Amino acid sequence: MRPHLRYGPHVSVISLRRNVTVGVALGMLLVPGCHAADTSMPYAEAIQFAPEDLGGLNTRTVSVESEDSTVSYSYPILGESHPLSAYVRTAMAERQTAFLENLPDRGDPELVQTTSLLAASDDVVGVRMSVTDSTKASDRPGSSTLWYDARTEQVMPWTSLFHDEQALAQAHLALADVLREDYDMAPEQLPGLVGEVSAKAEESDGELVPAAASDPATDPEEGEGTGEGELPLGDADLTDPEQAMEAAERWSASPLADLAFSTAGGLAVRMDPAQIPGTGRAEEALIPIEAEETEESLSELGYRARDAAVNGNSVPAERVAETTGDTEGRTLDCAEAKCVALTFDDGPGEYTEELLDTLAEYDAQATFYVLGSLVEEFPEIAERTAAKGHEVGSHTWKHDDLTSLSGDGVREDMERTSEAIEKATGKAPRTMRPPYGSHNSTVSDALGQPIILWDVDTMDWQSRDTDAIIDHAVSEVDTGSVVLFHDIHKSTVDAIPDILKELHSQGYHFVSVENLFADGQLSEGEAYTDARLE
Ligand code: NI
Repeated sequence: MRPHLRYGPHVSVISLRRNVTVGVALGMLLVPGCHAADTSMPYAEAIQFAPEDLGGLNTRTVSVESEDSTVSYSYPILGESHPLSAYVRTAMAERQTAFLENLPDRGDPELVQTTSLLAASDDVVGVRMSVTDSTKASDRPGSSTLWYDARTEQVMPWTSLFHDEQALAQAHLALADVLREDYDMAPEQLPGLVGEVSAKAEESDGELVPAAASDPATDPEEGEGTGEGELPLGDADLTDPEQAMEAAERWSASPLADLAFSTAGGLAVRMDPAQIPGTGRAEEALIPIEAEETEESLSELGYRARDAAVNGNSVPAERVAETTGDTEGRTLDCAEAKCVALTFDDGPGEYTEELLDTLAEYDAQATFYVLGSLVEEFPEIAERTAAKGHEVGSHTWKHDDLTSLSGDGVREDMERTSEAIEKATGKAPRTMRPPYGSHNSTVSDALGQPIILWDVDTMDWQSRDTDAIIDHAVSEVDTGSVVLFHDIHKSTVDAIPDILKELHSQGYHFVSVENLFADGQLSEGEAYTDARLE
């Protein structure tokens, strides 16, 4: 019995049935053979939709075009610092860095990373990331799937949809059965891991033994490597994020790595049409596995993911995008990604807005350590700075050396400055930079905020020389650096386009100070110069 299914008006699904007629144009594949007779009811549709099709969910798209390359990525914004948004964004940022660090000299290299949703409910969200890299030989996009479990607040790989690795292997056998029966493939035609799992099962009468346990005598040097003819079968606890990720690494060549659920409650496995006879020039082949074939293989998360895909498809309640600032969903994990924090002191000033426009071209987020007195004078510039997603921090009221003040004097100065910033931007500052970097224990005790210094001083206030500022910044920045500039000087603001261009081409991502030092890592009254990783 197939369940009766209903969909909301916003959700579009890829119809396997529909592809029988429009398949060539869409580049997708039909359900073949025996099911073709069943014309009264679609056999199955793969559930996959664009985040924007889910009313109310915003997508963030980043695109940077430079002389040497074009890179872009987009991902759904599930909320401020949402683990899945952060995970997806970080994975995309890392891939972008690797791409930019290995650019070929010729051609017009382009990296396009996109996202679609496989399920969405208050309980589970499924995401598929696709990558098209013009420098790679294959023009088929690479992809991976991730599942967010709201109950544990963990991001899980596709392997966690199965209750253990035996179940995962069984799903390969179910796929092999479909390919043999519905696509008339001979056992030796079964591609990659599907063929290997199938052959092993045949050999051992259906019993699959983990690689490590199968024959300990063979080449102990190999360790846990998967030698020839050995399956990547282990006995990982797939409810554990780390073990499930490790299993996903081992099984990365599996077509199940790119699975969606089908409207019939089964699986829809995306395969390379070159591996499936009779698929012609289709760009991708979606192979359906019926629900009953995987019924016993799914994990508890797998059942909930299936339920979210088939019956959910609504914006998770708390994640309906509000028109908040541009910071929403911008969190990047700087323990993994190549981050740098650019900081600008002593403003807001007459060149600040020009700087904001330059930063926007590179999706650069920066931190502005502003003077309270100037914020009071130019509140609209401070407001625009914050609205563009930049961090606005405190640089005191009028640039006094805080060590010349009493504890109460420091407190008063900080309070007055914070109030002016909050009034202009709607958000109180959470980090501060003391003028001249000057602080002592009285200051530290009275501040009530972390002290952000720098590891790269561009000396821009002294040189007022655009080329020198560019050289300084570009040659000294490292992953995790905090770079000191002053946006009140024209020579500095003029240097920023070249600095962004060069650092972008080196694979850097420009983040706020708060993002550079991960959430909660900063302590009040402590001084920080950088977040270098070594
Ligand atoms: Ni200053």
